[in-house]
Amino acid sequence: MDKTIAVCPGSFDPVTCGHIDIIKRAAKMFGQVIVVVMTNTAKRPLFSGEKRADMLRRSLCDLPNVQVDCYDGLLADYMRKVQGTAIVKGLRAVSDFEYEFQMALTNKKLCPEAETVFLTADAQNMYLSSSIVKSVGSMGGDIRDFVPPPVYEEIQERLVNSRKEDIL
Ligand code: PNS
Repeated sequence: MDKTIAVCPGSFDPVTCGHIDIIKRAAKMFGQVIVVVMTNTAKRPLFSGEKRADMLRRSLCDLPNVQVDCYDGLLADYMRKVQGTAIVKGLRAVSDFEYEFQMALTNKKLCPEAETVFLTADAQNMYLSSSIVKSVGSMGGDIRDFVPPPVYEEIQERLVNSRKEDIL
């Protein structure tokens, strides 16, 4: 049995079809995949950590070797905690590369046992990001093709309300 543990970290605010594609492909490559909702200090999240994890769980419940967790700390510490061997990240375009490369090198310094593995985004998800989903959804646009079905209804309402909160 393949005992390798891969970790897919991210802010997932909210999870998109692009994230799901990367996680599904990681689940085929590794024995176990842990998707971990983390804090990105450069971003102010719209959804709470628990809500983001809940949306991920509902979208990934058909994958037996995938579990979802939340962690408020360094990814390097989390990798040691779960004895993870690989950090799996998706790359959409060259514009992602510099930031991801910097994070990969920092994580390698802080946790040399873990390797970062990049999977290229599927061509049809190249343009997709959580920010695009929030932007389109908050203005009433159709986000059905951008997010997994189990979370569509729920976030649709929240996104439209977030727009109103911004205006008031
Ligand atoms: O989906 P994102 O926002 O690009 O994910 C970035 C994330 C959350 C993986 C990154 O900010 C992170 O690893 N945060 C945890 C804190 C940490 O370890 N920071 C140093 C990494 S260089």
